Amino acid sequence: MSHQLQKSLTPVRILSLLMLLLSGLFLSGCTFGILTPDRSVSSGAGDSTPSPGAPDLGEPFYSWMGNGGYDALHYTIDLTVEMETSFVAGGVAIDAEATQALSRFNLDFLGLEVNEVTVNGEDATFWREGRELTIEPVEPLQQGEIFHVIVSYSGVVEAVPDPAIPFEVIGWLHGDSGVYVLSEPSGASSWYPVNDSPLDKASYTFRITVDKPYVVAANGLLQETVDNGDSTTYQWEAVDPMASYLATINIAEFDVESEVGPNELPIVNYFPTTSGPEVRKHFAVTAEQIAYFSEVFGPYPFETFGAIVMDDNAFSAALETQTRPVYGARIVINVGEAVIAHEMAHQWFGDSISLEKWSDIWLNEGFATYAEWLWIEHERGKGAMEGEVRNWYTIVKRVDPPPPGKPEMEDLFGMSVYKRGGLTLAALRSQVGDETFFDILRTYNERFRHGNASTEDFIAVAEEVSGQDLDKFFEGWLFAAKLPPIPALELE
Ligand code: ARG
Ligand code: ZN
Repeated sequence: MSHQLQKSLTPVRILSLLMLLLSGLFLSGCTFGILTPDRSVSSGAGDSTPSPGAPDLGEPFYSWMGNGGYDALHYTIDLTVEMETSFVAGGVAIDAEATQALSRFNLDFLGLEVNEVTVNGEDATFWREGRELTIEPVEPLQQGEIFHVIVSYSGVVEAVPDPAIPFEVIGWLHGDSGVYVLSEPSGASSWYPVNDSPLDKASYTFRITVDKPYVVAANGLLQETVDNGDSTTYQWEAVDPMASYLATINIAEFDVESEVGPNELPIVNYFPTTSGPEVRKHFAVTAEQIAYFSEVFGPYPFETFGAIVMDDNAFSAALETQTRPVYGARIVINVGEAVIAHEMAHQWFGDSISLEKWSDIWLNEGFATYAEWLWIEHERGKGAMEGEVRNWYTIVKRVDPPPPGKPEMEDLFGMSVYKRGGLTLAALRSQVGDETFFDILRTYNERFRHGNASTEDFIAVAEEVSGQDLDKFFEGWLFAAKLPPIPALELE
């Protein structure tokens, strides 16, 4: 789903429109009449001459991520997984809508073997180059047509490097206790063919077959399990729009622990059978955190929540996989409630409201960091929260990282994005006052729920709700080298 793509003309959108326009020009042999200022013409609307969909969406850091010409609506990922080897066999079925007349289109997919591709039930021609899988249906697709693609594939899935995550690999990780999948930012295309961009969110079905006694945990709700004798098929449904990097399947010998949260929210946790109370006890706080964050951020955006824990000594992080974050057991033991608050806050900031481009990542990490501090305030009072803010202010001032608003690729998950990003929100709260601050957060969530937003979108909401001109404020916090003061906290 990409209804927000049409919303306004940010540079990214202008770039992708331009590319659509150029590909249309060169590949369908149109006259220069297409270069009128009328956007409905230049975007290809009403042009029924089929042309190739763009092979990317103009993402500044990840030039290969995403494709144009269609809007993915639903993915059904159907795989049988061999647990000794991570050999998978099966495929993905995609429902999509053509947003232009399409002679061919691309998916992002790296590695593995593509065995067959069909479009609307007919064998399609396909070829691969790097991360691009190009598919040419027998019949061109009409603009507005809903079409159905099946890509059958198999092979041993492997984790992949990412320039933003220098010391780890991402995607399909095979750890001590089983398989877990963490794709942020660019790992999704290493395990399923996808329009790999947060700009094209879709709903998902997972049908994963594994030998007994393994259990599969994924996004959304478990719909059914089928007993095949030696193996079990787990069918999960994630009905809300989801960015590709948030899709996850996790396979281990899990215990399932469920409770009912606020407003009947099903909270379903997956713990390795080997993990004890030193891990599990920390999640007792989940329902209370959901209730608190629903108050300060607005209603919880999804139909379920829960944790997936992985026992793997090599993995010390966590990821906000939609509705069901994945945590390394070690980070839970070491950090406890703070990391649970962090990944939960991402459900609003990052998952419901997704990035338009990766350099806006402070909208995810700065907000999730500030949520950790809010949780301290909720538990231990305003003084404790301000102590935490002072602490981080002092550290950031000493380390002096570059500002968080436009990080280099290798700093996407660096200290500035997290901590100076969080401090930006602490400063905003001082600037506009408590009531207006939380009003801004709730308005932002309401307006961009299940969509995409940019830093400019957030600033616009902050200015609208506060009635203040905040351009200088955000310029200083997000883009200026020097760390600004927080006068109300006597920090400078
Ligand atoms: N978004 C994650 C978080 O909650 C960070 C992911 C970083 N990726 C990684 N492979 N370590 O902070
Ligand atoms: Zn985070």
